Amino acid sequence: PRVNFISYDGREHPVDVPEGTTLMRAATDNGVPGIDGDCGGQCACATCHVYIEPPWDTLTGTRTGSENEMLNFSACLRDDSSRLGCQIPITAALDGIVVKLPEGQH
Ligand code: FES
Repeated sequence: PRVNFISYDGREHPVDVPEGTTLMRAATDNGVPGIDGDCGGQCACATCHVYIEPPWDTLTGTRTGSENEMLNFSACLRDDSSRLGCQIPITAALDGIVVKLPEGQH
């Protein structure tokens, strides 16, 4: 499936990844700037903070409890669209998803 990452400055970074790849890996494996993933996807660092806006938010499900807590430790501004990229695996249903990125994670 295709993931359309959008940098804070509006630049588009489309990548194609295998199903099951998390948004965090999709970005880090393809050199997309603005997302780190320091903990390797353990929901323990909050450096994979991304923003998922409608209509995609309904397809990516809801935050887990630990994801919700970890987002409070993120260096980036948190809002209703905030998610941790390592907690969202890409499925066929998410083909074409738009994922907005913060300027940086620190
Ligand atoms: Fe650490 Fe997502 S990669 S919380």
